[in-house]
Amino acid sequence: MAMTAHPEDLGLFQTINERHSVRKYDPGAEMPEEDLNAILEAATKAPSSWNLQHWKFLVIDDEAKKKELLPIAYNQQQVVDSSAVIAVLGDLNANENAADVYQGAVDNGFMTEQIRDTLVGQINKAYEGDTPFPRDEAVLNASLASMNLMLAAKALGYDTCPMGGFQRGKLMEQFNVPDRYVPVMLLTVGKAAKPAHQSARYELDKVVVKNSF
Ligand SMILES: Cc1cc2nc3c(=O)[nH]c(=O)nc-3n(C[C@H](O)[C@H](O)[C@H](O)COP(=O)(O)O)c2cc1C
Repeated sequence: MAMTAHPEDLGLFQTINERHSVRKYDPGAEMPEEDLNAILEAATKAPSSWNLQHWKFLVIDDEAKKKELLPIAYNQQQVVDSSAVIAVLGDLNANENAADVYQGAVDNGFMTEQIRDTLVGQINKAYEGDTPFPRDEAVLNASLASMNLMLAAKALGYDTCPMGGFQRGKLMEQFNVPDRYVPVMLLTVGKAAKPAHQSARYELDKVVVKNSF
């Protein structure tokens, strides 16, 4: 997929510095499909374990659907005022993507069928049994996609807010999310009506440890 730079695209460090969680959106702002797709495509460029791409994006942009989401998200108004809410879901059965993901490499002669089968076997083994592994992987990898998504939105002139404050079970029920997926976070995306609150960060000396504790 060729993604062309958007005219409003900011440089990476500026984008990172300027991204903050916006909670007040212009309810009348519309996001063209082209921008939404560019943001979603950027999300899919995130790295993932074995390239299994453990994510699914449930895009909620219908006004009636956003209203259904409001109580599930503890009445956080940004859910209805933003242009779209993207529920990022992690795939608990991402191992089932393996054969498909590697087929391209086999078809292009970059991987033998034997190597693919060995790899797929190893991946399936990692997903066997009742362990936290599939869930950890789903949340970990879908979170990487979420970060890409937020930065891509900012680079295109939109603001976002990651939200963990919602009832996961109710979201699944109301939006018919299959059990295969775990809701990781909601991301509101839209045009800011009010800037984000200030938020500070620790200095590096507080968060960086070199070589060993
Ligand atoms: C996993 C996660 C869950 C969050 N949940 C909420 C939420 O439910 N509602 C909200 O308004 N902000 C939520 N936030 C936003 C944080 O409060 C915010 O990222 C943090 O205060 C730093 O501010 P900044 O994002 O503006 O730099 C969440 C952030 C993360 C990463």
